[in-house]
Amino acid sequence: MFAAYFDQFNIVRLITIQAFLGDWLVTFTNSSMMMVLAVTIFWLLLKGEKLIPSRWQSVMELIYLNIRSVVHDNLGKAGQKYFPFVLCLFLFIVMLNVLGLFPYVFTPTVHIVVTFGLSLSILIGVTLLGFLTFKLNFLSILMPGGAPLVLAPFLVLIETLSYVSRAISLGVRLAANLSAGHLLFAIISGFAFNMLSNGLIVLSVFPMLIMIFITLLEMAVAVIQAYVFCLLTAIYLGDTVALH
Ligand SMILES: *[C@@H]1O[C@H](CO)[C@@H](O)[C@H](O)[C@H]1NC(C)=O
Repeated sequence: MFAAYFDQFNIVRLITIQAFLGDWLVTFTNSSMMMVLAVTIFWLLLKGEKLIPSRWQSVMELIYLNIRSVVHDNLGKAGQKYFPFVLCLFLFIVMLNVLGLFPYVFTPTVHIVVTFGLSLSILIGVTLLGFLTFKLNFLSILMPGGAPLVLAPFLVLIETLSYVSRAISLGVRLAANLSAGHLLFAIISGFAFNMLSNGLIVLSVFPMLIMIFITLLEMAVAVIQAYVFCLLTAIYLGDTVALH
């Protein structure tokens, strides 16, 4: 019975191609389909060059300006080269989150494998860029300036752990929040449905009102979580711009 709540997270194979490498399969799943759809939608819709913007163009300009200020505030002039990356990241995640709010639509961002894949590759990218920019001086981010030298081994250990755990927290935050929200949807609407099918028509108004509230909350969460992901990515990219 509880499994039904998790059915919405199931990965379904749509197209399977037997690959050359032994047992490895290349599969196109519902998750891949949503990602392709998200990219396609924004590829088609992220445009507008009117001097007086239409409604859609205003939304696009708002997103553009907001992400640009996030990148500018955290990375300064030198970090402007990362703006296209952060904007694409935001559009990708926000599109997946928002599409996922529709009934029967699969949300790839509820899977840690997707979000952790993103966050781990961002951390690997930041590390590589840091070493490319600052050579071995990049290691100095693992030792806070001005701390007594006696504490160095201890501090370096702590800072290394916190550096690595960025990748985990960034990905897990997004997946956990989104999947909790979707589970909440399933549980409370199941509750309302059970009440209705047992004849408790008046009482079922309460879970329905809660559903409305949670739907509004989740609409905000879909955008906020994508924004937080990009904000933290911009902060982490700061290590490749300046050593503190
Ligand atoms: C998701 O995170 C937001 C804060 O960013 C929080 O307000 C909300 O309650 C969380 N959702 C769930 C289902 O925990």
